[in-house]
Amino acid sequence: MRPELPEARNQACEPDRECSYCPRLVAFREANRSQAPDWFNAPVPSFGPAEARLLIVGLAPGLKGANRTGRPFTGDFAGDLLYATLSAYGFAKGTYASRADDGLTLVDCRITNAVRCVPPENKPTPIEIKTCRPFLDASLAAAGSLIAIVALGRIAHDSVVQSLGRKRSELPFAHGREHDLLDYGAHGVTLFDSYHCSRYNTNTGVLTAEMFHSVFARARAKLDAL
Ligand code: URA
Repeated sequence: MRPELPEARNQACEPDRECSYCPRLVAFREANRSQAPDWFNAPVPSFGPAEARLLIVGLAPGLKGANRTGRPFTGDFAGDLLYATLSAYGFAKGTYASRADDGLTLVDCRITNAVRCVPPENKPTPIEIKTCRPFLDASLAAAGSLIAIVALGRIAHDSVVQSLGRKRSELPFAHGREHDLLDYGAHGVTLFDSYHCSRYNTNTGVLTAEMFHSVFARARAKLDAL
């Protein structure tokens, strides 16, 4: 049976536009609103069908990507690789054009972030990650068909592990690792780890497109096997 996540019971899956839990992120949001009033500049909502079997968890919106466009991974380098990969494995339909109104739809796949507001320098603090976790708890609790999770980077991985009520020491992050959580939901859930698809990781060769594809190929195979 799906374990009850106590904090998730009455918790919304998405923060309000004016969420005020993290003072530093609120101040950054206000500064961005003044500087770029046409940008989205608010907690970025999850994207994709609620009944998706695959959930992708990123770190946090990029300043000029999701924070500008209002859709996770949309408008920055990380999104170019992510959406191309999702299309290649049948998780996206339509043409990705780096904007929230490009008509792209996700198929059996949903994307969320461990931290929903853009952090300065792409670096949320430990307390911001923890403060935002109830939204991830609620998102996982609401994902009734969940079978596979792809965590993009260690922070996303650790947040997912804690949202699932497990210890980080029990399920350490490693690129390419699969963690089978057999006691979760009707079919269990497999957590797939990947390095984050950031420009930095791809430019430095930490993550190649082939390495990234192979994670999604395994997630695809997992879903197709059921
Ligand atoms: N954009 C997001 O929405 N999340 C990330 O982790 C990176 C870019």
